[in-house]
Amino acid sequence: MQTHRLLCALLTLTCASLAAQQSTPAASATPKPPNIPDTFTNLKVLPTTVSKPELMTIMKQFSATFKVRCSYCHEVSDDLSEGSFASDTKPAKIEARKLMSLIHQSTSSLKP
Ligand code: HEC
Repeated sequence: MQTHRLLCALLTLTCASLAAQQSTPAASATPKPPNIPDTFTNLKVLPTTVSKPELMTIMKQFSATFKVRCSYCHEVSDDLSEGSFASDTKPAKIEARKLMSLIHQSTSSLKP
């Protein structure tokens, strides 16, 4: 009986420390840095002279507005470390581009 209890306690401890060990590296592991280019090669609506901070503001607004990750429109991994932002393979990107060009047209026609 005594040994049984000890074994139980030991097992629980091992499990707990294993779980702790497992979660520690996951939590402290340095995430791969996002791989966002500084120059843009496939802009069709936005001016090609757009700066990176400007583009990032627009892209973050996109993500916030549609409550999606960058990878919803872009062929990139969730942590943004792999893939290509320039790629046009995702239909959502094409739709978003259409939307952008519509907004662009209507705002430029508002100009005197
Ligand atoms: C709702 C869709 C959508 C979301 C979400 C989105 N983007 Fe974009 N992104 C676009 C579109 C559309 C373009 C192309 C604009 C154009 O053609 O002028 C673009 C272009 C880009 C480019 C330029 C690529 C190139 O080389 O031409 C980068 C970099 C980029 N996005 C980064 C991001 C990041 C980072 C996020 C997440 C914070 C993000 N995007 C979220 C739609 C989106």
